[in-house]
Amino acid sequence: MQRANLQKKRECDKKIDFWWMCVWYNIAKGLCKSGFGMSKTMVITSGKGGVGKTTITANLGRHLAARGHSVVLLDVDLGLNNLDVLTGIEHKIVYDIVDCIENRCRVRQALVQDTVQSGLYILPSCHSYDKSKCSGQNIRAILASLAMQFEYCLLDCPAGIELGFHRAVAAASEALVVVTPHISSIRDADKVLGLLKSYKLDKTQIIVNRARGDLIATGEMVEIADIKTLLETEIVGVIPDDDTINILSSLGHSQKRNQDGLQALDMLAKNIATGDNQIFDVTKKYSGVLGAIRRKLKSKV
Ligand SMILES: Nc1ncnc2c1ncn2[C@@H]1O[C@H](COP(=O)(O)OP(=O)(O)OP(=O)(O)O)[C@@H](O)[C@H]1O
Ligand SMILES: [Mg+2]
Repeated sequence: MQRANLQKKRECDKKIDFWWMCVWYNIAKGLCKSGFGMSKTMVITSGKGGVGKTTITANLGRHLAARGHSVVLLDVDLGLNNLDVLTGIEHKIVYDIVDCIENRCRVRQALVQDTVQSGLYILPSCHSYDKSKCSGQNIRAILASLAMQFEYCLLDCPAGIELGFHRAVAAASEALVVVTPHISSIRDADKVLGLLKSYKLDKTQIIVNRARGDLIATGEMVEIADIKTLLETEIVGVIPDDDTINILSSLGHSQKRNQDGLQALDMLAKNIATGDNQIFDVTKKYSGVLGAIRRKLKSKV
């Protein structure tokens, strides 16, 4: 009898905790919408897999933090997560997002500070978990406790348009759709943009990733302007195909400031933080006589 009462009390306490989290979330959301406070919850999504969502989440987080903003990255790609590996924090993980959902720890306890930027924190995901147990409400409750502490909450979304996608989008207030200049990726992004309309987000923008200036200059790759026309959505950043982006995201980027990838990522972070619309020109390097030589050399690699 006593045990049953105790169980009932615990369940009641959990419900009250959850209710308070929802109240805080709505208060925070209301304050942000009214311009008070700056917390933005952005989901980085794509539809097609492997287009660079995780790479962009990690790098955008670091560049925003480098500009002095407080940023938290939430890995909501349950099961196939790799944000921890990319940011080099996998050995520092004690608790993960599921521990927060199942009340084994407070959200703050599960946060891991980035190895490069002190203003950046990561909430790691788990490697195996019954995904049906995690809902959009769970993610919203976690965001509620982070909203007052961080200016930017970036959610790394899983590929596809299944449950994981809906769970991540339902918790966000803005979306960044990553697309590569390939027809299959553009088609999937178009489907995702259609689905996003039903969520009534504050803003939806596109990031074109892995753009090859040499191929765009010769007409072998879809032009950036055409992607904008096809998807009828504003482009907030263009990131070139640059092998150093991957290496830099795991090692930090102190030495290689002049890399194209880094410049483009910095422009992206600036556009997001200030509302600017400066887009990195991936074809500039490949126009004119010198550009023609560069194109020839690149085609031989
Ligand atoms: N701009 C870029 N230049 C070069 N390589 C890149 C770029 N962006 C991403 N990559 C590479 O593409 C691969 C896939 O990237 P990533 O894991 O970020 O994609 P994803 O969309 O998160 O994949 P998934 O859908 O499986 O979660 C990685 O090997 C990454 O290094
Ligand atoms: Mg990923």
